[in-house]
Amino acid sequence: MKILVVGGGGREHTICWKLAQSPKAEKIYCAPGNAGISEVAECVPIGAMEFEKLADFAEQNGIGLTVVGMDDPLIGGIVDVFEERGLRVFGPRKNAAVIEGSKAFSKELMKKYNIPTAQYETFIDVKKAKEYLKTCRIPVVLKADGPALGKGVLICMTREEAMAGINELMVDRKFGASGDKVVIEEFMTGREVSVLSFVDGKTIRIMASAQDHKRAKDGDQGLNTGGMGNFSPSPFYTEEVDAFCREHIYQRTVDAMAAEGRPFKGVIFFGLMLTPDGPKVLEYNARFGDPETQVVLPRMKNDLVDVFEACIDGTLDRIELEFSDQAAVCVVLASEGYPLSYEKGVPMEGFERFRGLDDFFCFHAGTKFDAEGRIVTNGGRVLGITALGKDLKEARAKAYIATDWIDFRTKYMRHDIGKAIDEA
Ligand code: AMP
Ligand code: GLY
Repeated sequence: MKILVVGGGGREHTICWKLAQSPKAEKIYCAPGNAGISEVAECVPIGAMEFEKLADFAEQNGIGLTVVGMDDPLIGGIVDVFEERGLRVFGPRKNAAVIEGSKAFSKELMKKYNIPTAQYETFIDVKKAKEYLKTCRIPVVLKADGPALGKGVLICMTREEAMAGINELMVDRKFGASGDKVVIEEFMTGREVSVLSFVDGKTIRIMASAQDHKRAKDGDQGLNTGGMGNFSPSPFYTEEVDAFCREHIYQRTVDAMAAEGRPFKGVIFFGLMLTPDGPKVLEYNARFGDPETQVVLPRMKNDLVDVFEACIDGTLDRIELEFSDQAAVCVVLASEGYPLSYEKGVPMEGFERFRGLDDFFCFHAGTKFDAEGRIVTNGGRVLGITALGKDLKEARAKAYIATDWIDFRTKYMRHDIGKAIDEA
């Protein structure tokens, strides 16, 4: 079968790499892809938001399965466009991707179906929002309803900060229409865990847990980023936590979406907070995480083509997921200055060190070939260096050794990815 993957980051590199191991994958294309992806797939210069062009490509090239990695095209309805044209595609339709696309929607869903999450109120009126902030508990969390590149969440430690935050979102419209509706939410404390799952509309199969590191600097300082590294499994995701989430969160979410006439097919990424009152949902994403994918898929034993097809066909109940006992750690090599401004086009070297190793991976995010055919930086997050080990400590030590193999002038990373492992 010919397969098209939509996206061009570390997540899509990992998906392409995993798909390439399937005997069913005859040829893999990736649009737009990146330098590393071109080792396992043919990169096609079509943007992820060019739905009609992507569907034309799928039709003209006899693509039997399209896999959408990124949030924006899913929220924008790429799956509906492909389905209308009779093309097989993995991912939620627009009316289900709203679980990520609208915070107000996901909060209402959780309230209606009794899924544990932080208490909240939704506002479309600036005055009413400010009135509420005068008496609510502090700290408080403000969330722009719509997508804001992961930056639409403001954690406010004082009332003044919260008032300024409302101005930023609703008056100055820093995130445009995404901030016209705002969720004001109770501040929760605890450890965060990411859990990825496959869903076929009715059945849900949990992949492995992972822990992300969202801040740019060591010690969880600095600005929020897309993720600077992570590890899997999370030692804090115990059997007890898993049992609670299976009873109160996972299946309930899938059933809720079906009951709302929005059956979800694809990946649900549960962002959980393990609070003193038990696990609660921080957020849902309608796709694989990045870099969660870089630590979860290398541990997965199943044929990924089979799993994608079962989700599309509604036969996921016939599949049991299997994961290796090995642990994985991913350290992101970023460009100095990320997530603000950074240089692009910086030449990189050292990739050959990863060849032929099956416990070290160099997943590309922001990379491309320059006119001379050299691999150069092309984004904020540049590479995800992943290693497998017999336990988390070994995987972490190996991942950090491998971060030395790659050289580029603007290389930046956190040095404490997985530090929490020592506290487990
Ligand atoms: P979200 O995009 O909703 O996951 O929010 C981004 C980050 O903000 C989360 O990963 C948490 O670290 C933090 N956050 C979001 N909501 C809350 C909350 N209610 N209490 C504490 N921290 C939160
Ligand atoms: N690493 C967080 C995300 O993919 O949203």
